[in-house]
Amino acid sequence: MRIVLGIESSCDETAIALVREDRTVLAQAIATQLDEHAPYGGVVPEIAARAHLAQIDRLYLQVMHEAGMELAQVDAIAATTGPGLIGGVIVGAMFGKALAAAANKPFIAVNHLEGHALTVRLTDAVAFPYFLLLVSGGHCQMLIAHGVGHYERLGGTKDDALGEAFDKCAKMLGLGYPGGPAIERAAARGTPRFALPRPLMGTEGCDFSFSGLKTAVRLLIERETASQPLNDALIADVAASFQAAVIAVVRDRVANGLAMAQARAPLTAIAVAGGVAANKALGNDLRALAAQANLKLAVAPAALCTDNAAMIAWAGMERLQLGLLDGLDVEPRARWPLAELRRA
Ligand code: KG4
Ligand code: ZN
Repeated sequence: MRIVLGIESSCDETAIALVREDRTVLAQAIATQLDEHAPYGGVVPEIAARAHLAQIDRLYLQVMHEAGMELAQVDAIAATTGPGLIGGVIVGAMFGKALAAAANKPFIAVNHLEGHALTVRLTDAVAFPYFLLLVSGGHCQMLIAHGVGHYERLGGTKDDALGEAFDKCAKMLGLGYPGGPAIERAAARGTPRFALPRPLMGTEGCDFSFSGLKTAVRLLIERETASQPLNDALIADVAASFQAAVIAVVRDRVANGLAMAQARAPLTAIAVAGGVAANKALGNDLRALAAQANLKLAVAPAALCTDNAAMIAWAGMERLQLGLLDGLDVEPRARWPLAELRRA
């Protein structure tokens, strides 16, 4: 059985993983840069690139040691070569190319979004074609996954990504970064007693818009804090109201997207990928929607929803199986839409 080494460094997580063809994650290590970026309230690209460089050797050695393996036993090296913060992408891609050159192994350039998209095939062996809701800090779209390298976009956000909306709302509530998990925890303690807009709900198609909701949350906080401090109870109720609005919108948009997808392909499942897929309340809501449509809902465990290298190694494995190898001259890309992938 073949083994692929995966490398991820496109945002603020440096990660290395070894994945075997039978969908076993042999070892993985991840270093998050949260502390380095925290003082700035968001990810600083230059700091991210330097932090990847500082961590990547150590993580690689740790993973090989944990798996008890030599590089000679690995069948291919897969690294994220985009999209993402270019400095970080270059660090991971160069590291991967160097390993490939040194050990004379094939190199596979993995699109970070395809890594997220194929995760449910690693965790749940979901068959093509499936419906995919891809929601992370930088991306927010609905697609049909027809096959490796073959994605059909149905709709997406007109402004902010869903994870970004969670992060911005959390920042306004003083909850820190990343905002998604903090909002989810606060919402669990609160009551959704504030009416917030549900952008694009009830309209045709399956696009999203979150910037109006973000503004409404800001105005709500201003209004409420005119008469009381931003206390724990208020934070919990605003978070609950925001999350309820988001879930209502996502349910409405996914229902439309799903109808569009079902008219085009015989779907096997609804998959949710990207960091926001870690949200349990959203998952429960989509589970009900999937049940109505008689489809299985596939959501990876939280640690594989947010950025990780196992998903990159797995996407590399799928590409290796199809003979989709890349040369060492492949260039890192800041932008790389899923529609522009190479396929068999
Ligand atoms: O996929 P990811 O790790 O990085 C990107 O490629 O963007 O996604 C990170 C995003 C952040 O915006 C974070 O707030 C969000 O995923 N997120 C969540 C949850 N966990 C992470 N959003 C909502 N609920 C969560 N439990
Ligand atoms: Zn991601």
